[in-house]
Amino acid sequence: MRVIPMSEESYLKQLEPSDAQEMFWLTDTNRQYLREWLPWLDYTRTVEDTAGFIQMTINQHNNNQGTHYGIWYKGRLAGTLGVHNLDWINRKTSLGYWLGAQYQGHGLMTQAVVSYMDQLVFGSWGMEKLTIQAATENGKSRAIPERLGFQLEGVLRRNEFLYDHFVDHAVYSMLRSEWEEFRSSKMD
Ligand SMILES: CC(C)(COP(=O)(O)OP(=O)(O)OC[C@H]1O[C@@H](n2cnc3c(N)ncnc32)[C@H](O)[C@@H]1OP(=O)(O)O)[C@@H](O)C(=O)NCCC(=O)NCCS
Repeated sequence: MRVIPMSEESYLKQLEPSDAQEMFWLTDTNRQYLREWLPWLDYTRTVEDTAGFIQMTINQHNNNQGTHYGIWYKGRLAGTLGVHNLDWINRKTSLGYWLGAQYQGHGLMTQAVVSYMDQLVFGSWGMEKLTIQAATENGKSRAIPERLGFQLEGVLRRNEFLYDHFVDHAVYSMLRSEWEEFRSSKMD
């Protein structure tokens, strides 16, 4: 399984079947907090459900459609991030992510997104464009692409159904050339 170092205390590791127990525990103990913005909590009731998701991400990887990584911090799983698929014809993809509530507020996800973009999206996969979508009211999620210099493309109205209501999505994008520019001007 591929590992991408982030700092002395943190790294990304491709999700693997043996992560199911820890990932389910993180999900289950953050259920109410995650449910505010993510649509899959009610379909994730047992460790077998999480194992099924991990197997789906492994199949995705085996089909050359990108994949999902766990974010490991001080030896524990803190969250995950991954692309939905890779559009090889148009060389674009979209990224989703979540952290356990106890791991928020330290820049962990921002750093994970940077590493994922450098190593995978604009690295191994050579994509031209990455999009991140977040509910317009989800300020913490929107802050990540904003912090990293993504451009706001617009708002998709009533774009996702979250249990009992629809939310609008803000769509952010980053082009390969913009990322190279941002990396050299802001992060070196
Ligand atoms: C979206 C989510 C991942 C954001 O988590 P987060 O902790 O705010 O994001 P980061 O880990 O990048 O940390 C950024 C925070 O750490 C602070 N920080 C500290 N050191 C930092 C550093 N070196 N770099 C960047 N930020 C740093 C930032 O100021 C910010 O804090 P603030 O919100 O008080 O301003 C998290 O809220 C979450 O999982 N929510 C539930 C699921 C969800 O909404 N998923 C997204 C669906 S689109």
